[in-house]
Amino acid sequence: MNRLIVVSNRVAPINEGKSAAGGLAVAVLAAFKRVGGIWFGWSGEVVGSPQQETKTFQSGRLSYATVDLSQRDYEEYYNGFANSTLWPLFHYRLDLTEFSRRTFAGYLRVNGLFASRLSPILEPDDMVWVHDYHLIPFAEQLRQMGHEQPMGFFLHTPFPVPEILVSLPNHEAMVRSLCAYDVVGFQTESDRRAFVTYLVQEARAEVIDEKRVLAFGRVLHVDSFPISVDTAEIEKQAEVAGRSRQTAQLRESLSDRDLIIGVDRLDYSKGLPQRLEAFHQLLESYAENRNRVTFMQIAPPTRSEVQEYIDIRRELEAKAGHINGAFAEFDWVPIRYLNKSFSRRSLLGFYRISRIGLVTPLRDGMNLVAKEYVAAQDPDDPGVLVLSRFAGAAAEMESALIVNPYDTEGVAESLQRGLTMPLAERRERHQALMEILRHNDIDHWRDRFLEALSAAPFRPSGQA
Ligand code: F6P
Repeated sequence: MNRLIVVSNRVAPINEGKSAAGGLAVAVLAAFKRVGGIWFGWSGEVVGSPQQETKTFQSGRLSYATVDLSQRDYEEYYNGFANSTLWPLFHYRLDLTEFSRRTFAGYLRVNGLFASRLSPILEPDDMVWVHDYHLIPFAEQLRQMGHEQPMGFFLHTPFPVPEILVSLPNHEAMVRSLCAYDVVGFQTESDRRAFVTYLVQEARAEVIDEKRVLAFGRVLHVDSFPISVDTAEIEKQAEVAGRSRQTAQLRESLSDRDLIIGVDRLDYSKGLPQRLEAFHQLLESYAENRNRVTFMQIAPPTRSEVQEYIDIRRELEAKAGHINGAFAEFDWVPIRYLNKSFSRRSLLGFYRISRIGLVTPLRDGMNLVAKEYVAAQDPDDPGVLVLSRFAGAAAEMESALIVNPYDTEGVAESLQRGLTMPLAERRERHQALMEILRHNDIDHWRDRFLEALSAAPFRPSGQA
């Protein structure tokens, strides 16, 4: 079998137990730890002066190759174009999207730096699978260095409709560089459709068939590949975690109250202020929940040097404090708001004893917390997933209680419905969701993408 080279900005920490909330690194690790390959990306280190060395090490079947970033690269590429331009734009937050030629140049420079570091390691029949919006021009840069092998790209975030995308002054260059890949994968059908619509409307592309498009002189395979979780592994781990001392401590601290849980990176795309409002509304409209239900929101800070992230953190602190001030009793605090990350094992135990998993992003590529929450439930007494229609996961997880996060009263109503849902209905919904997660688990996601990639390159005649 050909060697597989996985490329992503964030490379998973070696110690899995310490994993942070980022979905990509957790999913990619779960997908590749058994099949092996080389995982190339940023080391997570910012150094005073650019380092010449690529650090390499082995962990299990995976070899790692990582590169440090200089302070300037970090600011222009990571904080700048990736997280102040593409991230808000791809999440439909034009109001927060900044654009500058300086950060775009930094973005291209770092993609070039990464490509030049990977280039000497690459062998002609290696397959390259690149992940996420940080690395859109990566294949184009490798192609310019003479590499011709199959290269695939998977976008973990949403892809915006053309009307939004064209606000980016350099949208054409960005999309043209995406077309240097052989396979371009999206989370959902609507992301795929948005991309193909752009290609047809703005780049006079020709749709060859359901999956193939001829654009900028190349044939690409374009499809949706909804990312997932290691379902069987989570089921096993959650059963054990449900009996852990920490889970028991949490249960004891609740004193028979129901728990609603939310776990998200502290990001404005996650709809956290709206979620707190909805919980507030629950306590207002359904007063029987006062002193009966606790909401625990775990929100580890992320990208904390970007102004919008500083702002949202302040806003949430004020909101949580306000609701707690209004409703707390001497023996009950309605919201436990935690700005820290927990090990995966702890989270699985917490999910298992939560009556409701509350996942209400305003826009999200997939949202793996939704899938993990479901897979971690006790099938005999499962909790209820309350899920935003704007998470990619909603396209598959129709048996969740699907909500519109902007509709505060509607979310409160669904919370009430989840809290009072009879056991038979909870079991039925859980079973339906588990069927989907057992079929489309992380191995299925990886295998489908690699199958498409291994058929590359594609020719306009239709044959591989
Ligand atoms: O797609 C979501 C994502 O941006 C991943 O690329 C990333 O690993 C994760 O969120 C966490 O973000 P960051 O790497 O900026 O901490």
